[in-house]
Amino acid sequence: MKISILTLFPEMFESIFTQSIMKRAQKSGFVEIKIHNLRDWAIDKHKMVDDRPFGGGPGMVLKVDVLHAAILDLKEQNSDAKIILLTPQGEKYSQQRSEQFSQEKGLILIAGHYEGFDERIRDYVDQEISIGDYVLTGGEIPAMVIVDSVVRLLPGVLGDENSASTDSFSAGSDKLGCPQYTRPEEFDGKKVPDVLKSGDHAKIEKWREEQTKKRTQQRRPDLI
Ligand code: ADE
Repeated sequence: MKISILTLFPEMFESIFTQSIMKRAQKSGFVEIKIHNLRDWAIDKHKMVDDRPFGGGPGMVLKVDVLHAAILDLKEQNSDAKIILLTPQGEKYSQQRSEQFSQEKGLILIAGHYEGFDERIRDYVDQEISIGDYVLTGGEIPAMVIVDSVVRLLPGVLGDENSASTDSFSAGSDKLGCPQYTRPEEFDGKKVPDVLKSGDHAKIEKWREEQTKKRTQQRRPDLI
């Protein structure tokens, strides 16, 4: 999969994509991630990417001509990609949507800033996504959230033992995860449940299922 990210703050992505699973996924060729600076498509000599809104009001608005030029070029480099605009006005992101995105050949993620985008850019994107009902200073963190959640679903990225197929919220699962423990066996008077140390795999499996059900019922009855 090829992922192109359009942003005014490319440095924000440096640490997140050069560590751990994201780093390995790129090194092993499962995904190619490229960060592009929107300013590279600025048209005038002042490298302006935003301007005051018509009609007045606070803040600046990202220019449609600059965004459009960038999208055209990125589309040429990542031809079958789905173009996604990050905005609090978009569809709320979910595990189901990340599963769909992970089937795409490519993604172009557009992170906005300031007061927003010129409305007309909406005609040149395939989808608008919000990561939740809160407003961030820009679309960079939402873009990171999407990349992380999609890349870990690409076949081969997670080892078998970490398979994404059993994730909470995934299509086959309507439940939260079960409680997990590791050493020490006792901490601050709190003991690891005996069943987990019994070596009886059928019993352990049954206990985990029950715990999963109970926890989901208590915390997220809406998932059942
Ligand atoms: N930009 C600012 N806030 C956002 C959000 N919640 N989701 C996506 N993009 C955003």
